[in-house]
Amino acid sequence: MTLTNSANVNPFEIVDEFILSTIETLFIGRRFGREGPLQPLMKIEEELGNRLSSPGTDAVYSAAPFLRFLPLPMSLIFHEVKSVHQRILDTLETLSKEDCEEKGIYHTLKEATEEKDENGEPCINEDNIYGILFNLAGAGYLTTRGTLLSVIQILAKRPGLQKLLQKEVDEVIGRDRNPRLSDRSKCPLLEAVVMETLRYISHVPVFVLHSTSQSTTIGGYNVEKDTVIVPNSWTMHHSEKHWDEPFRFKPERFLDRDGMLLPATNPVRKRFAAFGLGKRGCLGEVFAKSRIFLFLSSLMQMATIDEPEGKPLLDLDPRKMVPGIVLQPQEYEVRFLLR
Ligand code: HEM
Repeated sequence: MTLTNSANVNPFEIVDEFILSTIETLFIGRRFGREGPLQPLMKIEEELGNRLSSPGTDAVYSAAPFLRFLPLPMSLIFHEVKSVHQRILDTLETLSKEDCEEKGIYHTLKEATEEKDENGEPCINEDNIYGILFNLAGAGYLTTRGTLLSVIQILAKRPGLQKLLQKEVDEVIGRDRNPRLSDRSKCPLLEAVVMETLRYISHVPVFVLHSTSQSTTIGGYNVEKDTVIVPNSWTMHHSEKHWDEPFRFKPERFLDRDGMLLPATNPVRKRFAAFGLGKRGCLGEVFAKSRIFLFLSSLMQMATIDEPEGKPLLDLDPRKMVPGIVLQPQEYEVRFLLR
């Protein structure tokens, strides 16, 4: 991460580069940066995908799927997305042939196409590779981006909290080496800040649609087998019945009196479900949390986030985030003061 001292900066580019680099590494085992062969294509893919997955567009095309064959502006985006996907796959194929020790899931998936099941059929095909890669990129990009951009904006308005985070990072990691994943369990405040950010913003306001596999009772209501359920994390995380002052950012709600993270069995932790629940919960939870830890601990080690010069910075209010399938903060600027 390269930071410029004290100038006003829009952190969106820094965060995008960080996330796209982790996706590149996941896919192909290496990262090539924002000018490399993959990131510009991935950025176009995400922008087009986000426009397509807006609730309005989704409602129209779900009601009348044939519209995608007509030359309407949104239908053209479908075709653009397909063409960008193909260019990404072609690039991955070229990169996978380079003589290089690092491997990503693209190599693993390609190898799996050679394996045959008991009927002699390939275990997975090119369509499966396409589905897996673009599901992972789609599910991992906006979610992690929204979290990091929100936590930067939240911290910029809380210099006292930043001081405490910097103290924790200095004591556990110091300034002479990069943070490691093994440091995470020793940084309870940082963990609590991330959890509270995810609760506060609840930027995946409704989860993936689920269906009941048997008849059951939820909160006194009978629910038949095969009923579609749409869990609502926004309500879960902002209910005054369960959260004291839900629209105030209070990381201490996840800490005990000694400043240690509450155990996962504590009722407060059990009410926190930013990654969904059960076996169809978020597949990328561990990956996302580890990247967020590395990003935030490195940032606190290197810099203090300050308000921009000459313009106001509003505190993040989750009710005013940009609507979409994954809510995002409004554009803003901050200053990074190198420590
Ligand atoms: C802060 C970051 C993230 C948040 C808040 C988040 C949240 C969620 C939520 C709420 C769900 C729906 C769970 C349910 O319906 O019960 C989900 C599903 C999923 N997420 Fe994430 N996610 C994040 C990052 C990631 C990343 C980085 C990846 C991949 C690299 C990923 C991959 C997936 C996949 C594949 C699913 C679908 C799982 C299934 O249907 O079996 N997510 N995520």
